[in-house]
Amino acid sequence: MDFQKSITKENLARSFAAECQEGARYQFLAKKAQQEGYQYMSALIRTLAHNEMAHAEQFFMKISEYGGANVQNIDINAGYPFRTGELCDALKLEAENEKNSGESIYPNFADIARDEGFKDVAELFDMIALVEISHNKTLTELHNSLCSNSLYKSKVGKRPFKCDNCGTVVQDKCAPKTCPLCNMGQGYYRIDFSIL
Ligand SMILES: [Fe+2]
Ligand SMILES: [Fe+2]
Repeated sequence: MDFQKSITKENLARSFAAECQEGARYQFLAKKAQQEGYQYMSALIRTLAHNEMAHAEQFFMKISEYGGANVQNIDINAGYPFRTGELCDALKLEAENEKNSGESIYPNFADIARDEGFKDVAELFDMIALVEISHNKTLTELHNSLCSNSLYKSKVGKRPFKCDNCGTVVQDKCAPKTCPLCNMGQGYYRIDFSIL
């Protein structure tokens, strides 16, 4: 199949645009989390932003790998979200977006790429889909614990809470309001997904 006439070419461009926008939205969200005192959450969301830019780069490189170094103006017909809101709601919306990418859009693009004979592109979509599903899990856990006011509460009795600023560990049912070692706020304490 001629790449220039393929649906895969448009899907790659559409995915590149989506990843760039996700990366931008996560940076906005990380800034909001930081401003609200959730420093560790902010760092987690910045890592997601970084991941999305790495995905964008892979899609971008595939277009030049198949289309040459000077591909011009790929027209794409797609819709993208432009929503704002409270941190808690934004986490939920982004989690849904990740689920949609990971479970539906990218697997579908992978199937199309396979049908069109672009096996490596199909594999790329499949690999990135797995990451988006893991992003969905992270954002869903953040949303659930933030909205239920249990971000820094243990569900298993006393457990170790670690300050991400100074590394001190406090064994308790809840992360301290301020770190006993460095005096930074509770927002610096690590959110431990394994025991949420
Ligand atoms: Fe991504
Ligand atoms: Fe993602």
